[in-house]
Amino acid sequence: MTDNPYQDGRGNKDRSLGRESTSTADPVRESGPTRAAEDAPFLIGDAMTGGYGKGPDILHDCTIAVNPGEIAVIVGPNGAGKSTAMKAVFGMLNIHTGRVVLDGEDITALSPQDRVVKGMGFVPQTSNIFTSMTVEENLEMGAFIRRDDFADTMAQIYDLFPILKEKRNQAAGELSGGQRQQVAVGRALMTKPKVLMLDEPTAGVSPIVMDELFDRIIEVARTGIPILMVEQNARQALEIADKGYVLVQGRNAHTGTGKELLADDDVRRSFLGG
Ligand SMILES: Nc1ncnc2c1ncn2[C@@H]1O[C@H](COP(=O)(O)OP(=O)(O)O)[C@@H](O)[C@H]1O
Ligand SMILES: [Mg+2]
Repeated sequence: MTDNPYQDGRGNKDRSLGRESTSTADPVRESGPTRAAEDAPFLIGDAMTGGYGKGPDILHDCTIAVNPGEIAVIVGPNGAGKSTAMKAVFGMLNIHTGRVVLDGEDITALSPQDRVVKGMGFVPQTSNIFTSMTVEENLEMGAFIRRDDFADTMAQIYDLFPILKEKRNQAAGELSGGQRQQVAVGRALMTKPKVLMLDEPTAGVSPIVMDELFDRIIEVARTGIPILMVEQNARQALEIADKGYVLVQGRNAHTGTGKELLADDDVRRSFLGG
């Protein structure tokens, strides 16, 4: 995290687009009551069971997690509960069993807003930009919790996504699908998150644009921000994943490294088209 080759030479003043984790720097919290073990994941939605309102449970004992330096990918059929699991981690639905722990702190009871303050960046699957606002206004909206000067962060985001700088004064709704997703990711990065959660960042874009977006996501991960993302392009996503989860009907069906899941006959047959 500290000697990141991707920041040097890009003129970034900050060490990272994200905030530093406190988990290794704070031994008191390491041994605190919410930290189950030294190697507890950085962000975990642990054994989550719950659904929407008074409706039936969608998630059943579902666990997703990500660690520093990692890209963790969640794949699975439509309606499997991937978005629901992300929303549960972000505090958008009630789980009645399980918990969410970020950087050693149990945040299960916090509102989504408070989770943003704690360092979560979340890009939902739909309605993830303000279409009538300009690109730059979208990024400014992303910085809503910041009281400090965020010009540096905006410059870093324009470095990462040069097309956004070019189109900074255009309404975000006029942009292409891939560019809109860049706006959405950029908006989430404006809070300098400790962890970034992306729900289908490549939805509806061409294969070429998908590859470009994956490259940018890898670049973000290399600045030290762990990434937890849902992807419908399962094979390509698992190729860049340090860790993968296959969810089926709200449950963990397969978990492993990206490589392991790509090599698993069962996973290949059922989810990767053979
Ligand atoms: N806002 C909602 N209210 C009630 N049920 C929902 C809502 N969103 C999703 N669901 C249901 O939750 C299940 C999982 O959906 P979702 O998490 O969106 O799946 P995925 O993202 O894997 O395609 C589906 O049965 C869906 O109908
Ligand atoms: Mg979804």
